[in-house]
Amino acid sequence: MTEQIKNTLLNAAHSAAAILRHFFEGTFEIESKDTINNLVTEVDKKSEAAIIHVIRTAYPDHFILSEEVGELSTESNYKWIIDPIDGTVNFAHGIPICCISIGVEKDGIMMMGCVFNPFMNELFFAEKGKGAFLNGKPIRVSKKAELESACLVTGFPYRWAKIDTDPIPVFENFIRKGLPVRRLGSAAIDLCWVACGRFDAFWEYNLNPWDIAAGYLIIEEAGGTVTNFKGEPYSVYHKETLATNGFIHQQMLDEIAACENKN
Ligand code: IPD
Ligand code: CA
Ligand code: CA
Repeated sequence: MTEQIKNTLLNAAHSAAAILRHFFEGTFEIESKDTINNLVTEVDKKSEAAIIHVIRTAYPDHFILSEEVGELSTESNYKWIIDPIDGTVNFAHGIPICCISIGVEKDGIMMMGCVFNPFMNELFFAEKGKGAFLNGKPIRVSKKAELESACLVTGFPYRWAKIDTDPIPVFENFIRKGLPVRRLGSAAIDLCWVACGRFDAFWEYNLNPWDIAAGYLIIEEAGGTVTNFKGEPYSVYHKETLATNGFIHQQMLDEIAACENKN
């Protein structure tokens, strides 16, 4: 069963990747969702349809949660959580930092995940208890133990105007300390780049389950730590994500708490 799920997961990611490659830097329809830069393109929809087709062909009764179509709810204890393009703004601007992200939950626990950036040819994969891989090679988080020398990454919600959390104080705090903070525009790739040691920590407010389902498992399987901003156990259904190499996790929690206490 697990091997069959893995094959279905990888087939779904590859068939979506062919669609992304076909349309990249070409012409396609773009619409705004609730805010002007919260985009959905015709390619998001085609990618999503291809992924769902592959899953449905193998598992007609599995539950699906996907960004553009929402919940295709069933009684199954398997749930596929899909972001057909994570980094849609990058995709729409021809910036090759975007990916397909698919996580598979069984009985509420993430069991498998895949994040595929077809433009860098990087396929990240993890299975619970069996490690994390980049293009088939095992990956580990970095060993950096001092926040002062860490490289951080974050993101900002397009719906910022419509939500009540302000992501700027924490960002400003790190910038004022002179730390390198990157903003790639794809939460799933941010997480995977922590998992393979390029970044030492990632945090973001207000992500959705499809942004993080796969990346969360990939970091955990690469030896990292993921919690909310209080250091409590993580859920992809909650709004705060702090993902680190583990060594600087407490330092990140302390910095975030100090900013929140100032407000
Ligand atoms: C977005 C990206 C971005 C993050 C946003 C997400 P989308 O997903 O992951 O990095 O900052 O909060 O909405 O819209 O490109 O799938
Ligand atoms: Ca996303
Ligand atoms: Ca998306």
